[in-house]
Amino acid sequence: MGTLAGGSMMTDELRQEISLVKEKTKKPFCVNIPLLRPDAEELIDISIDGGANVIATSAGNPKKFTKKIKDAGLKVIHVSPNVKLAMKGAGAGVDALVSEGVEAGGHNGFDEITTMALVPQVVDKVDIPVIAAGGIADSRGFVAALALGAEGVQMGTRFVATFEAKAHKNFKDAILKATDNSTIITARTLGPTRCIKNALSEKILKAEKGGITTEELLEMIGEGRSRKAAVDGDCDEGTVYSGQIGGLINELRSSKEVIEDIIEGAKVLVKTLAK
Ligand SMILES: Cc1cc2nc3c(=O)[nH]c(=O)nc-3n(C[C@H](O)[C@H](O)[C@H](O)COP(=O)(O)O)c2cc1C
Repeated sequence: MGTLAGGSMMTDELRQEISLVKEKTKKPFCVNIPLLRPDAEELIDISIDGGANVIATSAGNPKKFTKKIKDAGLKVIHVSPNVKLAMKGAGAGVDALVSEGVEAGGHNGFDEITTMALVPQVVDKVDIPVIAAGGIADSRGFVAALALGAEGVQMGTRFVATFEAKAHKNFKDAILKATDNSTIITARTLGPTRCIKNALSEKILKAEKGGITTEELLEMIGEGRSRKAAVDGDCDEGTVYSGQIGGLINELRSSKEVIEDIIEGAKVLVKTLAK
């Protein structure tokens, strides 16, 4: 299932993107809404009215909105980076959880727990489906996630490096060029963000060491910076969200190919493991 990043859009853009998705597919789709957005409820209403099938909540407690979303006939998936927040989401009545490890591109949890350690611990604590995220880009990662007890996976970095992704060519190229140690976490105090090392990330880390104020740090991070990279293609002064798995991604592919390869590869892997 495809997910629209509602958190990076203004309300009108989200409306347009939802109608585009509806034009192109009859398949279910999801809208991700970071609950720290002051207009989160409006984004939820737009997603419900637009015909989304699932809302993925992140960065906040889904309790306030779960009933409303479910009453409208949609499923709620909550994204969380540790066991405590996963249990809070489960307690709020969500249908499934995404457990996202610190390998993941974009915003990370403060605890920096890896996918490998996090997923089985969440699986043991909740009785709803868990979807593993962070560090998965091929059939090996997918089968590993299933072995950890996940019932599915969420991938971000792999899908940026696809023909269909809206990201600027420079952003995609940065992921294709990345190696295992190309990413770094910035803004650990305010909102840890995994991105590809560049002039901006160096500047941020230097400023953080030098005792930058919160206001100054806020100016160096945030939505504007990620647009600078993803939309304008400035991968020196923009934030290039990418996970550690970028080193495994060496060519642009279609989303269809990515998914089919994972499923076909997983069938072979499972047979090999059973021998
Ligand atoms: C370019 C990019 C943008 C992302 N934007 C969002 C977002 O808006 N909301 C969100 O919850 N997660 C976002 N993520 C995280 C993904 O949803 C996913 O959980 C993560 O990428 C999984 O780890 P991976 O990067 O190793 O595949 C983003 C990730 C990337 C790489």
